[in-house]
Amino acid sequence: HRYDLLVVGSANADLVIGVERRPAPGETVLGSDLAVHPGGKGGNQAVAAARLGAVTALLARVGDDAHGRLLLESQRAAGVDTEGVLVGGAPTGVALITVDPSGDNSIVVSPGANGRLTPEDIRAARPLFEAARVVSVQLEIPLETVAEVAGVMSRDTRLVLNPSPPAPLPDHVLAACDPLVVNEHEARYILGEAAGATPGEWARALLKLGPRSVVVTLGAAGALVADGRTGDVVSVSSPRVEAVDTTGAGDAFTAALAWRLGLGEQLAEAAAFAVRVGAVAVTRQGAQESFPSAEEVSVL
Ligand code: RIB
Ligand code: NA
Repeated sequence: HRYDLLVVGSANADLVIGVERRPAPGETVLGSDLAVHPGGKGGNQAVAAARLGAVTALLARVGDDAHGRLLLESQRAAGVDTEGVLVGGAPTGVALITVDPSGDNSIVVSPGANGRLTPEDIRAARPLFEAARVVSVQLEIPLETVAEVAGVMSRDTRLVLNPSPPAPLPDHVLAACDPLVVNEHEARYILGEAAGATPGEWARALLKLGPRSVVVTLGAAGALVADGRTGDVVSVSSPRVEAVDTTGAGDAFTAALAWRLGLGEQLAEAAAFAVRVGAVAVTRQGAQESFPSAEEVSVL
């Protein structure tokens, strides 16, 4: 395989304002100066993996504009192969982000060019899929495009899906996931009324929907991994850190996990590494700028 990881997903310019608290409907609050960071769940995953040392390619669409150039520059600086990044069709995606004093964020995404990444674009990029050990995808691109990704996967390639933001997933997509990576919000969305009370119950219920494995991320509490082959559910703890900005930490986690699984690690082992990658990311501002090298993870 030429690539350790192929990320298929969104690239957004993140427009970030720090706030003391979020405004209620009809209310105005003053925030910090505006910061513009390269982001998007797909772009974030690609940069995170490349910075850790993974040979990484990104399949995405950006606009022919200043934001698009910022995003391409960030990918290239991290060493991501951007041959698969298409340009034009709509303005680059934008994420409007507020970050509060605890480091938590709220995000509104305008998909722009991400919404124009089509199933046809996926089929045209088939050589990238054949060259990848692992393919990772999220839901900031059209659902039919995600479904096409699951369709073009070759047998010896592993699919990792983070259903964020959550949307109803076709059965063949769920069945192809190894693993499905969800946080509490996404787990509850997918399970609906059937969601149990504990992460272990969510993981077991999600496995019944078809994925070969499930990972539930739990923020400061680490993660839970569930393997459909063995039925084992294992919890992985996170090192204690001071959170400054959690934006993109989940993306860094998923990218690290996908890369290490592709290298042949077991689920719990790969998740233990990925939790540490996410932990470093939350201690720094921004998404892509906050992602660590492998060396920074080892000294945490
Ligand atoms: O997961 C974090 C990302 O979500 C941000 O970078 C923003 O672009 C949104 O896509
Ligand atoms: Na961060």
